[in-house]
Amino acid sequence: MQAIVNVTENWGIGRYNKLLFPLRADLKRFKELTMGHAVVMGRKTLESLPGKKGLPGRRNLVLTRDESFNAPNVETVHTPLQAVFATGAEDFCIGGESVYRVLLPVIDRVYVTRVLATAEADAWFPNLDEDPQWRIERESEIMEENGVRFQYVDYVRVEKE
Ligand SMILES: NC(=O)c1ccc[n+]([C@@H]2O[C@H](COP(=O)([O-])OP(=O)(O)OC[C@H]3O[C@@H](n4cnc5c(N)ncnc54)[C@H](OP(=O)(O)O)[C@@H]3O)[C@@H](O)[C@H]2O)c1
Repeated sequence: MQAIVNVTENWGIGRYNKLLFPLRADLKRFKELTMGHAVVMGRKTLESLPGKKGLPGRRNLVLTRDESFNAPNVETVHTPLQAVFATGAEDFCIGGESVYRVLLPVIDRVYVTRVLATAEADAWFPNLDEDPQWRIERESEIMEENGVRFQYVDYVRVEKE
């Protein structure tokens, strides 16, 4: 599985169940990368999406402990293992914090959008720069949208010897 995430300089990813820096270019890239694939998300992240429904053109797997949970264009899964069995190497974990954390051990590529700013956050992604299991494979140039500077940084899991 892969992951895709938008982080601040100190790896903040959200506050009050909202993105900290929604960027048009980043949302477009998110759509392009995930289109046609399965996306795994937590129930709270689903509820942060427009209309609280699954993303069009993608198979939406929502992790929840609530056996009766239902939402449009969504399949529910109740354990991380169920999500892993239902997905392949090209599919994506799209958050939030709890789902990134629980699935990180089975993720081998993370598409990070790094915003070169900080903001108060209540949700975080693990700091991959401090984790020797991860290395940067590719870093884009720095771009800017409405005064917000950002870049794309692809992390890959360091291969075991
Ligand atoms: N910056 C980004 O790229 C990005 C991307 C996505 C989300 N976010 C942000 O992340 C924040 C949300 O993260 P979060 O951690 O609070 O919520 P979350 O991971 O989206 O959803 C949490 C819910 O997922 C279910 N869940 C989690 N682990 C589970 C497990 N092991 N087994 C079964 N169900 C499980 C539970 O649902 P039930 O309570 O229904 O059982 C849990 O309450 C928001 O601020 C959002 O904006 C940021």
